[in-house]
Amino acid sequence: MRIVLVGPPGAGKGTQAQFIASHLSIPKISTGDIFRANVSGGTELGRQAKAYMDRGDLVPDEVTIAMVRDRLGEDDAQDGFLLDGFPRNVPQAETLKKMLAEWDLRLDIVLELVVDEDEVVRRLSGRRTCDKCGRIWHVDFDDKQDDICDDCGGHLFQRDDDKEEVVRHRLEVYAEQTSPLVQFYADEGILVGIDATGPVEEVTNRALAALRPLE
Ligand code: AP5
Ligand code: ZN
Repeated sequence: MRIVLVGPPGAGKGTQAQFIASHLSIPKISTGDIFRANVSGGTELGRQAKAYMDRGDLVPDEVTIAMVRDRLGEDDAQDGFLLDGFPRNVPQAETLKKMLAEWDLRLDIVLELVVDEDEVVRRLSGRRTCDKCGRIWHVDFDDKQDDICDDCGGHLFQRDDDKEEVVRHRLEVYAEQTSPLVQFYADEGILVGIDATGPVEEVTNRALAALRPLE
């Protein structure tokens, strides 16, 4: 299955992506994760992306699209994938459509995680990420008393772009550039919106229920 997850910063795309991808045995391809790995690895790609990410702006399309094209060309993505964080604007969506068509493929479904702005701010301010396994935690909702990952013993850190003023700017960028994707995919007839509030497992169950007719 070929799936795109769309939703504002903090909607839970990364959280849900890890469960959905493992349930379907398809790779989770997160452009944010790939950029962050390149920034911490000090690569040329990371150098190009860092200033945009620190401000909460989108990395230029040509950089992002080239990276996604390479990743989708890898062997493990041939039988399906879950994209988290891409596409992020209508030009990226149009390019993805053309790219897949070149390979005689198309998206099966776009899941929109629907959640309001207050909840998003609450989620992002408490988010912590494991520096070893990448698992996403929340200080309150996961009742974290220390900064150690319960899964692997790695250290939890706060993302640089989760500072309040950057979060606010990311939400503006979402409203201006990313939210038009919802209409784009509704017009394509492949958009399904899911209520992304409530416990993580409930949201996962709603997502899996939406995917079931396609399995
Ligand atoms: P990216 O990493 O994609 O960030 P984002 O879209 O802003 O999304 P987030 O990762 O902040 O949120 P999420 O929806 O994954 O939420 P999460 O699951 O962590 O992108 C970062 C940057 O990279 C961009 O700003 C841009 O610069 C660049 N970039 C990336 N892709 C690009 C592209 N295509 N083009 C150009 N630039 C690009 O959850 C948040 C918190 O809430 C966690 O603490 C979690 O534990 C908690 N939580 C989740 N679900 C629940 C729940 N149901 N109940 C309670 N808590 C929950
Ligand atoms: Zn870990």
